[in-house]
Amino acid sequence: MKVIVCSSYEELSKKAAEIFAQRILQKPNIILGLATGGTPVGTYKELIRLHNEHGLDFSQVVTFNLDEYVGLAPSHPQSYRYFMDKNLFDAINIKKENTHILSGTAEDVEAECASFEEKIASAGGIDLQVLGIGSNGHIAFNEPGTSRDCRTHVVNLAESTIQDNARFFDDPSEIPRQALTLGIGTIMEAREIILLASGQGKAQAIARSVERPITLAVPASALQVHPNTVFIIDQDAASQLKREYPQHSQDLEMPSYATKIQPKVL
Ligand code: F6R
Repeated sequence: MKVIVCSSYEELSKKAAEIFAQRILQKPNIILGLATGGTPVGTYKELIRLHNEHGLDFSQVVTFNLDEYVGLAPSHPQSYRYFMDKNLFDAINIKKENTHILSGTAEDVEAECASFEEKIASAGGIDLQVLGIGSNGHIAFNEPGTSRDCRTHVVNLAESTIQDNARFFDDPSEIPRQALTLGIGTIMEAREIILLASGQGKAQAIARSVERPITLAVPASALQVHPNTVFIIDQDAASQLKREYPQHSQDLEMPSYATKIQPKVL
């Protein structure tokens, strides 16, 4: 596992987008694994900028998202489908049919999970997966204690998560109590993983994931044995790490997309 410390959230977002852009250039029909939440929003903004200003092409890209709430229709502003459309998909030239998000309104949620696994497998598996991390070390909706080999499954949300979400819902009966999530086993099969973390609130989870023994109590610690994972984190998120890690811009090659993507002719 590699760790790159960036001086700010903006720098972290640029670094992550740069890796995405390089991989898309190398493989235009790449299979991306995407996350929601606040952390990747800066990366998605930068990808939109690269699309608008440099013509970064998503026309053959295929995506699979990590998770979705049970009971929320795609049109619900708190659904992860809505989030992805607004924060990325609507602003780039990706084909909507190539974007896959678990259906929170499927009649048979177990069957939905199984079919999502099949779709990922028949697409050839995830080439590049982006992850956020919970302050308790969760990845996707795999909370502490989740088995490391689990596949896409239904989870009952922790009472604290339900309470946290309550503020986003006018009607309390709409607050989701369950979610569908890729399993840790599924995530670990991605060929490359980028985990993003920003802010003091993530510092303990990062230290426990990177420098402490692998434990079910910290789901992200499983990534220590993944062969191709990089944690791209800002200085606040790195503040409880004891070892020295490369600072972004000291140890990294120049972005190759800068020379390879032609500016768009307007
Ligand atoms: C989102 C997801 C979650 C978030 C995590 C961090 O699809 O699966 O695990 O990545 O909760 O969320 P933020 O980025 O909002 O701190």
